[in-house]
Amino acid sequence: MAEKTDPTKEPRAVAVNVLKGGFGKSTTAINLARELADRNGRVLLVDLDDNGHTTFNLGYRDQYESDNHVQQVLLDDADPLENVVQVTDNLDLFPSHEDLEEVETNLKSAMASSQRLGRNIVDPLLGDTYSYIVVDTPANRGKLNDNALFATKNLIVPLRPESGWESGITQTNKRLIQEARQYFDLELLALVPTDLSERLDQDTRDRNLLYAINSRDELASFVPNFAHLSAADWEAIDAGDYTGDLPGIRHRASIDKAHRARKPLRDYDAECDQLGCYEELAQIVENGGVVR
Ligand SMILES: Nc1ncnc2c1ncn2[C@@H]1O[C@H](COP(=O)(O)OP(=O)(O)O)[C@@H](O)[C@H]1O
Ligand SMILES: [Mg+2]
Repeated sequence: MAEKTDPTKEPRAVAVNVLKGGFGKSTTAINLARELADRNGRVLLVDLDDNGHTTFNLGYRDQYESDNHVQQVLLDDADPLENVVQVTDNLDLFPSHEDLEEVETNLKSAMASSQRLGRNIVDPLLGDTYSYIVVDTPANRGKLNDNALFATKNLIVPLRPESGWESGITQTNKRLIQEARQYFDLELLALVPTDLSERLDQDTRDRNLLYAINSRDELASFVPNFAHLSAADWEAIDAGDYTGDLPGIRHRASIDKAHRARKPLRDYDAECDQLGCYEELAQIVENGGVVR
C-alpha cells in the first residue's frame, strides 16, 4: 500500500554522481532511495548508467536487454510510468538499458537535449506520483549526466578511500559542479565517505579522506553527521581515547551481499549497523542539506 506523501516536506530530486567508477554510486543510490521510500512513501530510482549495475542489483536484467525504453521515454515521448518496475511497496525503478550509448548519441542531435529527463520524467512525476526521485549516473561527463544534473539540481557525491579519491572530488567539483553552475543552480547536498575499514588511528587512506573533507572549509559543511569529526575528535583519536562511532559508511559484507541477493540493504539485512547512515542521507535529501 502506498503511503501518502508528507505535505510538510518538499518533494526533491537528487543525482548521485562522482566522476570515478566503483566509488559507491549505485550502492548509495539504491539505499538512499530505499530509505526515502521507507520514510516518505513513493520514490522513483532512475538508473542512467549504461553499465546497468543498479538495475541488475535490483533484479531487472530483462528490462536492460529488451526494448530500449530509455530511448522511447527520453526521445520519443513514451509514458515513463509504463516503463517502471516495482522494487518494494513504495519504491519503483526506471531501469537502465544496454543501448544507452545510442541514447547518448541520439541526444546530441536532439533539440533541448539536456532537458529530456526533466521534461519527460522528473517534472511530470515529482510531487505528484513520487515524493522523491533519485538518479544514478554514469562516471563520465556526457548528455545523460547533463540530464541528471539539470533535472534534479541536487547532487550527492560518494567517495571511496581508493587511490584517486582526491582527483575524484577535484574533477567532480571542477568539471561537473562548477561548470553546471555557470548555467543553473546546482546544490551539493552531501559528500559520502563509503566502504571504509575499521581503523582511523594510523596514516591510512580512510583517515586522510575523512581528515580532508572534515578540515577543508569548502567541504566540511557537506559532510553528514555520520562522517563528521571535530578538532576535539581528532585529538581524541590521536590520543587513543576516541569513543564515538566510527565515522563514514563502513565496509560491511551485507551491503555487498544485498546486491547479489537483488535487494536494497534494508530488505536484505534490516539489522545492519550501517542502515542509520542511509537514513541520515535520506534526511539530508528531505532537508535539502546537512543539518548539524
Ligand atoms: N559500504 C560497503 N560495504 C561493502 N561493499 C561496498 C560498500 N560500498 C560499496 N561496496 C561495493 O563496492 C563496489 C562498487 O560500488 P558501486 O556502488 O557499484 O560503485 P559505482 O556505482 O560508483 O560503480 C560494489 O561491489 C559494492 O557492493
Ligand atoms: Mg554504478
